[in-house]
Amino acid sequence: MDQTAITDSIAAQMRAKFDREPTGHDWWHLHRVRQLANRVLESEGGDPFVVDLAALLHDVADWKFHDGDESVGPAKAREIMEALNVPAPVVFHVCDIVATISYKGAGVATPMKTLEGKIVQDADRLDALGAIGIARAFAYGGHMNRPLFDPEKPPTLHQDKDAYKHDKGTTLNHFHEKLLLLKDRMNTETGKQIAQQRHDFIRQYIEQFLHEWNGTD
Ligand code: ADP
Ligand code: NI
Repeated sequence: MDQTAITDSIAAQMRAKFDREPTGHDWWHLHRVRQLANRVLESEGGDPFVVDLAALLHDVADWKFHDGDESVGPAKAREIMEALNVPAPVVFHVCDIVATISYKGAGVATPMKTLEGKIVQDADRLDALGAIGIARAFAYGGHMNRPLFDPEKPPTLHQDKDAYKHDKGTTLNHFHEKLLLLKDRMNTETGKQIAQQRHDFIRQYIEQFLHEWNGTD
């Protein structure tokens, strides 16, 4: 099987598995992350096979939906790639990206070791920003039974993964606890450029949200 056939097969598997996933981690998120990652790769370089596989597999078993267990995602990714005889060094590289890509709170560093990892992490984070990022945040918040906003609940800058995972906050707080922090955590110059305008759009959205909330619009 050549690289295109392998990527096509994994894309088809992911599409079938995550077709109507309701928390913003659906097939189209994977598709957009792959597209964004390739856009970043065009100016930054990198191995397109590793980037495609990591983009398609990065959310295959997110720790947030597996009781905080970070080993399920890489194990599942490995199983899917090994079934298609992906070369061992590529499997190792992609599993390492899947294991380390995720955001785990404001005070938790999640450095990526390789250029391909930096690219896919940037692409994943870009999809949490802008108009789509806002839609995904409210979809996730609804799924987790979070209120839209509570003026009496200030945001928390979480210092560890468990505090971040178990926070009972509001979706608007998530903008301060994660989304607005992403711009300064981008790895690549291309990622930073795309992030800036998506970041500004979110800031403008929050401003309007609060005006409407307070009746000052
Ligand atoms: P990552 O891919 O960095 O791990 P997540 O899986 O945490 O990202 O986030 C995926 C999407 O779900 C993002 O758009 C993010 O904003 C949203 N999300 C995650 N946690 C929350 C939350 N507590 N409230 C609202 N949205 C959330
Ligand atoms: Ni993702």
